[in-house]
Amino acid sequence: MNGTQLKNNVKLSSKYLDVTYINNKTGTEVIALQNINLDIKEGEFICIVGPSGCGKTTFLNTVAGLLKPSRGTISLDNQEVDGPGKDRAMVFQTPSLFPWRTVMANVLYGIEVQKRVSNETKKKAQDYISMVGLKGYEHHYPHELSGGMQQRVNLARALTVDPSLLLLDEPFSALDAQTREFMQEELLRIWSETKKTSLFITHQIDEAIYLADRVFVFGARPGRVVDIVDINIPRPRDLNIKRDPKFLHLIDHIWSIIEKESAKQGFQ
Ligand SMILES: Nc1ncnc2c1ncn2[C@@H]1O[C@H](COP(=O)(O)OP(=O)(O)O)[C@@H](O)[C@H]1O
Ligand SMILES: [Mg+2]
Repeated sequence: MNGTQLKNNVKLSSKYLDVTYINNKTGTEVIALQNINLDIKEGEFICIVGPSGCGKTTFLNTVAGLLKPSRGTISLDNQEVDGPGKDRAMVFQTPSLFPWRTVMANVLYGIEVQKRVSNETKKKAQDYISMVGLKGYEHHYPHELSGGMQQRVNLARALTVDPSLLLLDEPFSALDAQTREFMQEELLRIWSETKKTSLFITHQIDEAIYLADRVFVFGARPGRVVDIVDINIPRPRDLNIKRDPKFLHLIDHIWSIIEKESAKQGFQ
């Protein structure tokens, strides 16, 4: 890849990033991330995969500005991240909706916090509710919705604030297998309409390959990037590509990297 070209459209950049947790009681340190160097381009869909405990959530929280680097930097649009900001929106594993608010009121919450409620933002909320397939459910409450539908509300809320970077931490992992696949397909459809730069975390390799332009494979102890895999599968992608030999080959490839890493750690 041409270095100058890359520089021009880099959205997010992590340079020499270390994140260490310190236990206040014992003073012991856990090096959660060590020397993370990566660039994400404008409009890319990036997935991070890796075993539990390899620092995926830590990385996302650092990008979100909820955690501070112990060394190195995270930059978004060439600005160093030093706290949370409205340029980033998060979707968590569990829907985190307010039970006393309707779908519409939940979707508008992010806009309210930012004091940006207007006819225009209300219309945007309505558009995203439709885009995630919840038209007609605006006045329903979270307990009236399935887990998959709640997660769509979460996604609509994140999109409505119009972030320049969408951060998703295992958003579908609490869903059953069928709903999860359906949501993967839906997310790609929405992404193709919005082209938001997205950073999606998962521990499921097939989910990462299906969604991403590139997959960053993280290894554990300490968490670091062990490989970056280009996913050269044309879009739009339907779920049948998961049975394509090219797809299966990519799964094998990423599995072998993770297995090799685990063997090094003595997990086998
Ligand atoms: N608040 C915390 N205090 C101390 N250690 C933590 C904390 N959060 C995470 N860790 C440790 O940091 C490492 C990375 O955790 P995490 O980012 O949650 O991994 P992942 O999301 O990949 O499962 C793990 O070893 C975990 O135990
Ligand atoms: Mg995690």
